[in-house]
Amino acid sequence: MGGMKGNEEGKSSSSATGDFSKEKTIGSLFNESMINLDHGDPKVFEAYWVEMDAESSITITASQSLSYFSDITNLCWFLQPELANAIRSLHGVVGNAVAGDRYIVVGNGSSQVFQAALYALSSDSDEPINVVSAAPYYSSYPPMADLVKSRLYHWGGDANVFDDKDRPYIEVVCSPCNPDGSIRKQVINGPDGKLIYDLAYYWPQFTPITFQADHDIMMFTASKSTGHAGSRIGWAIVKEECIARKMTEFIELNTIGVSKEAQLRVAKILDFIYDGCRKSESDEPPQSNVFEYGHRILSERWKKLREVVDRTKVFNLAEYPSEHCNFFGKVTKSHPGNERYIMGNI
Ligand SMILES: Cc1ncc(COP(=O)(O)O)c(C=O)c1O
Repeated sequence: MGGMKGNEEGKSSSSATGDFSKEKTIGSLFNESMINLDHGDPKVFEAYWVEMDAESSITITASQSLSYFSDITNLCWFLQPELANAIRSLHGVVGNAVAGDRYIVVGNGSSQVFQAALYALSSDSDEPINVVSAAPYYSSYPPMADLVKSRLYHWGGDANVFDDKDRPYIEVVCSPCNPDGSIRKQVINGPDGKLIYDLAYYWPQFTPITFQADHDIMMFTASKSTGHAGSRIGWAIVKEECIARKMTEFIELNTIGVSKEAQLRVAKILDFIYDGCRKSESDEPPQSNVFEYGHRILSERWKKLREVVDRTKVFNLAEYPSEHCNFFGKVTKSHPGNERYIMGNI
């Protein structure tokens, strides 16, 4: 991971003089005032989860989860049934994706799911096929596509200027997009093109839910939906059985499945959120769920960021549209979930 490592770089020459109090002040000032734009870490919902610890935690005993297998009747045999049910229920109540009768493939974060999808969509190819995405795109797509110098696929650059569309390609559509927060659609329409939708941020705290997505491969992750990046749970909702089977094969050969502890933890958290959403829907007094909380926190942060940026007269921030959110039942504004949106106008 990039970025400065706190005191190492924050040290002043005062240590040579033994003036440690000065060193601490400079070091902590440096740490507190630094915005690290190199990578995001979604601890923004931590305060919420601290409050919810008692109701949303699970205990896993030493005798539990010894087997490699989670459900041998399922194509994705390492997917815990609890997690599959929780994923389907949550997408149902949020209304952001059709998941009911689709295949679900779980991975170690959506990063592994992405690589499984690349493999599944290219495994029959005789030559490396291009993986493209409209710029600006998530900065990890190119290195993930090129890391192992695969004979099946390689990074092909910006989809907006891709001119080899008569041959097979994979277009990654990230919506809302990291880094610019825009709502995206595919930009290429070639006869042999395949699509992967990265919907990591298509949750109501980040953007209005305006339709139920129903694409061939849709990726989601606990890292962004609930803020549990450390659990490393991502999933794909897949229409075609053969693609889901190949994705499962990739994860089987890559890591022989996904930690059951992590899956059970995330299942519990998704169930907890689902229950909160259902209570908000019923006549019971609405209880704050992570989507309401997240929406509020992100609104506040964006407001502050806009105030600061306005004062600079040097930078400006993208404006995002307000739309009716089917989940909240009212017009809401997009509040993209990472803070790399300052665009220079000098
Ligand atoms: C658009 C997008 N997709 C995927 C990921 C990776 O998510 P995960 O933590 O599930 O691997 C990120 C993380 O920042 C992201 O921004």
